[in-house]
Amino acid sequence: GAATSPRLTVIGTGYLGATHAVCMAALGHQVLGVDVDAAKISRLASGEVPFFEPGLPELLVKALESGRLRFTTSFPEAADFGDVHFVCVGTPQRAGSFAADLSQVEAAVTALARDVRRRALVVGKSTVPVGTAARLAELIRSVAPAGDGVELAWNPEFLREGFAIDDTMQPDRLVFGVSSPWAEQRLREVFAPVIGQGSPVLVTDPQTAELVKVAANSFLATKISYINAMAEVCEAIGADVHDLAVALGLDARIGSRFLRPGLGFGGGCLPKDIRAFLHRAEELGVGHAVAFLRDVDEINHRRRARTVDLVRELAGGDLRGVRVAALGAAFKPDSDDIRDAPALDVANALHQLGARVRVFDPVAMDNARRAWPTLGYGQSTFDVASGADVVVLLTEWSQFREIDPEALGTVVGKRRIVDGRHALEPARWRAAGWEYRAL
Ligand code: UGA
Repeated sequence: GAATSPRLTVIGTGYLGATHAVCMAALGHQVLGVDVDAAKISRLASGEVPFFEPGLPELLVKALESGRLRFTTSFPEAADFGDVHFVCVGTPQRAGSFAADLSQVEAAVTALARDVRRRALVVGKSTVPVGTAARLAELIRSVAPAGDGVELAWNPEFLREGFAIDDTMQPDRLVFGVSSPWAEQRLREVFAPVIGQGSPVLVTDPQTAELVKVAANSFLATKISYINAMAEVCEAIGADVHDLAVALGLDARIGSRFLRPGLGFGGGCLPKDIRAFLHRAEELGVGHAVAFLRDVDEINHRRRARTVDLVRELAGGDLRGVRVAALGAAFKPDSDDIRDAPALDVANALHQLGARVRVFDPVAMDNARRAWPTLGYGQSTFDVASGADVVVLLTEWSQFREIDPEALGTVVGKRRIVDGRHALEPARWRAAGWEYRAL
């Protein structure tokens, strides 16, 4: 019955929302996906995932066939259908500021609340500045016909692109930020199959739940920038940051994950989350407490500049007219996401300095072309490398790791490579006559 099996809506069917909707249906729930983008909704409804995520297209088709997953653009329909409404819209960085742009969240919650006439739980999943939940709860109370019958909870999402299904089905932890035992109970019902698989639940207040997400992403970003800062020191003295990272990582208190030095972090989350956190902490009068995140951001950007320098050095000091083969565009492998992608930032900087850059990426080509139309593109690794003066590896796709240096050497103009992700075996490339440089 309705009491034990709440009907769900998922508002915002981008990366997070589409994954959440499909996974919730796969777990046996009745789910309605909602978005203002009619084109996106009709693609999803016909079984097509509008972005690259391994396994998701198959799971979407199954969920549609089961009859448990439907899509709509109608907020009144969603308000009528759902017992629990998940808000999964984007919170990008505001133009010209570090602050998060909350307009989509506010619009979605308002559009939904206007028609909620019965007891319901609205659950925020979007990454927001701490304190947003309290404001939204106020907004809902004032807008919803059901008034106090509509509660707000926060349930941050920690999924990684490329591992979205596993991270949703078997997350490291579930965080329920709730204001009442009823809200906790509803969330426990929704996530019963996930909890049954062993994911621990942490129950807390909404503002702590909001903070868990930004604090986690800030920690991850800090860890990456820490090892990249060590890379700068290593370079100054001729030490090996990769050996250093292995040695550090073997200390269980430090751990080896997110300690890979290289071109640094990008994507739609880490960079904008640390900036939004800086901004929010300043608003709260505790900017000094997280001021180090500014360094984290700057260290990360210096990696991009250093990669450009390495290419320039290999090219003999001047990039004008130099043919550069750029391998990778996505912000990380197994993703077609190019938001704040270090790879494209570097490719564009090389282009600005006069290099003739040609980019190849296994899945992110369409997105890259659309966002960076002034760059050159090619069909394959060998296509872009053909005649190149310098090859630069920018995203560590496995197909790049497997390149045969001997074979690639036969098509390039000069055997020179910069490995921005430490994805290749230097000895192998040097043995094949390549000048190999790594960050
Ligand atoms: C990140 C977090 O890992 C997720 O937990 C979180 O849910 C998500 O953001 C989000 O906020 O939605 P994601 O952006 O998919 O997930 O990517 P990550 O796997 O975290 O990688 C981020 C960046 O760090 C990539 O550019 C990657 O190349 C870089 N990275 C990662 C390094 O440079 N070194 C490392 O050791 C690890």
